[in-house]
Amino acid sequence: MRTTTRLAAIAWTLCAGLGAAGPLPAETIAVIGTGNVGMALGTEFADQGHTIVYGSRNPEGLKASDLVTKTGRGATAALPRDAAELASIIVLAVPGTVVGEVVSGLGRLDGKIVIDVTNPLTRSATLEFELDTESSNAELIQSLAPRARIVKAFNTIPWPQMIDPARAGGPVSVPLAGDDAEAKRVVAELVEGMGLEAIDIGELKYARWTELGAVILLNNQLSNRPNFDLHLRKSQERRP
Ligand SMILES: NC(=O)c1ccc[n+]([C@@H]2O[C@H](COP(=O)([O-])OP(=O)(O)OC[C@H]3O[C@@H](n4cnc5c(N)ncnc54)[C@H](OP(=O)(O)O)[C@@H]3O)[C@@H](O)[C@H]2O)c1
Repeated sequence: MRTTTRLAAIAWTLCAGLGAAGPLPAETIAVIGTGNVGMALGTEFADQGHTIVYGSRNPEGLKASDLVTKTGRGATAALPRDAAELASIIVLAVPGTVVGEVVSGLGRLDGKIVIDVTNPLTRSATLEFELDTESSNAELIQSLAPRARIVKAFNTIPWPQMIDPARAGGPVSVPLAGDDAEAKRVVAELVEGMGLEAIDIGELKYARWTELGAVILLNNQLSNRPNFDLHLRKSQERRP
């Protein structure tokens, strides 16, 4: 959300709750993966004043260097392990089925905030999408990096809405799951700086709930059934 939607975003942000402790200081954020989500989050976080280092398998290739140029504001690209070492916040924007392998290659993540945006999707024998894990990718990452501060976020909205939430025709909520309250607050600041609303859904063990959304969406997209957009919107109604 680089220009026109900024004002609408500020209005939504003023109405939002979680993460009300004020703007984050500028951080170095490693965005691992230079695909659609890496691009959307990297450019958005750079617009919030953070320094982005993309972690790519090919940091000198055309895709990474184009993204560095598009992001501006001092962005760079490096191999994933080098990018992670430089950063206090790490975003995992890689295919869900390789996240264990990717995290294992990042070195020590102790104390770092790790934002898991992945959906662990695989295809069944009948080519339907299904979850590739008994628990969740977020818990897999936590088991590989026990001292990292994992927050599940952003996996329930399509990447174009990360850049332009107004496409959804109203506020879009981003559920956050994690065991570290301060890490969730930091991620909530990033979410709300994009004009999205953060909603705390509790501990990391609830991340699986959010990972199911993409299964419903993609299975309908690839069938003759109707397509739909998938996002959550905070209800104004109070329920018992
Ligand atoms: N697309 C969406 O709208 C959306 C929304 C919410 C969440 N998600 C989730 O976010 C994650 C990223 O989605 P995306 O749409 O950005 O995917 P994508 O466009 O395919 O990009 C994934 C990136 O991951 C990196 N990567 C690292 N190891 C890889 C490997 N073994 N194989 C392929 N790529 C590898 C690649 O960057 P390098 O080549 O630079 O290494 C690649 O560009 C997925 O887990 C997805 O489920 C997607």
